Amino acid sequence: MNGGDCLLILGIDTSCDDTSSAVVENGSTVLYNLVSSQIHVHAEFGGVVPEVASRKHLELIVPVVMETIEKAGVSLHSLDAVAVTTGPGLLGSLLVGVSFAKSLAYALGIPVVPVNHLEGHIYANFIGTTQPEFPLLNLVVSGGHSDLILMEGHGHYEVLGETIDDAAGEVFDKVARELGLPYPGGPYLDKAAEKGDPERFHFPHPKIEREGFNFSFSGFKTRALESFKDSEQDQKAVLDMAASLRQAVVRELLYYVEDLVKKYKVKSFGISGGVAANSLLREKARVLAGRMGIPLYIPSREYCTDNGAMVGACAYWKLKRGIKGDAALNAQADLTLSSWGDAEK
Ligand code: KG4
Ligand code: ZN
Repeated sequence: MNGGDCLLILGIDTSCDDTSSAVVENGSTVLYNLVSSQIHVHAEFGGVVPEVASRKHLELIVPVVMETIEKAGVSLHSLDAVAVTTGPGLLGSLLVGVSFAKSLAYALGIPVVPVNHLEGHIYANFIGTTQPEFPLLNLVVSGGHSDLILMEGHGHYEVLGETIDDAAGEVFDKVARELGLPYPGGPYLDKAAEKGDPERFHFPHPKIEREGFNFSFSGFKTRALESFKDSEQDQKAVLDMAASLRQAVVRELLYYVEDLVKKYKVKSFGISGGVAANSLLREKARVLAGRMGIPLYIPSREYCTDNGAMVGACAYWKLKRGIKGDAALNAQADLTLSSWGDAEK
């Protein structure tokens, strides 16, 4: 324990294919953040192989955490808590992080704080000097999620909308693969899109059976693959498809925002998760937030994709409310997001 007013938390995320850890001070200052990507390992398979991912986490977790502690300039004994993503994610991968975090916390005699991967992504927007005001509308977009989540206070979550089929990142990755772009597709498709014609292929707004603020992206995937097959399949078609699909997905992701901001008297808008690194989404969201007159929060690219800093940031607010795990704490692949805080009055 460091003994002062400041809380030092080690955050760990091993939910998918990145072994990541960070030391975070008071939920907002990152002393060091380290992400050891397994991309090169999975690239030859064109996607994450769960069994390979968990073995890699096992190999990497100790060196990654030790390097994080050293580069952060702290000692293990100065930590106040160890925070870890317990789900959702790949079970074998989550288990490595959770077992490690529990053992380390036990050895140091400090609490272990469980963090849901989605709330982790959201709290990446609490890193830094200015903090979002509540009610905060969050668009969480990653390889596994496309959710609209309202927060009326720390740990107070209401899921207003979600994808009824594929997540936005998943569609980018799958289409990119068919276009012959390297793995993981999202960032490469983003780059290719800069040089393409976004008006060439059309993706009309989908008819979504379940009313409300839900998304549907599987139709875009099928349409993209079919339209590309029917084209010349040359370099120009690749660039034009990347640009057209990116434009349509970004349009859908921002489709409900203005209505929700009005309906819930939202004071700040946050975007997070791997797809928040997308250049067009960042640009269009800035324009939209400017028009609505509310501040926009998007993490720097390093905190968009999976990282330990967002886990450490979230755990600070949980720990302040006395939320911690016990010896029974375990990983859960399909963990749902649940609230632990109250709405701010
Ligand atoms: O949050 P994340 O690192 O892992 C999950 O929780 O899924 O998100 C990974 C996803 C992948 O689908 C990846 O292709 C996508 O984020 N992604 C992007 C960009 N950078 C990462 N998608 C679009 N444009 C990008 N620049
Ligand atoms: Zn993620």
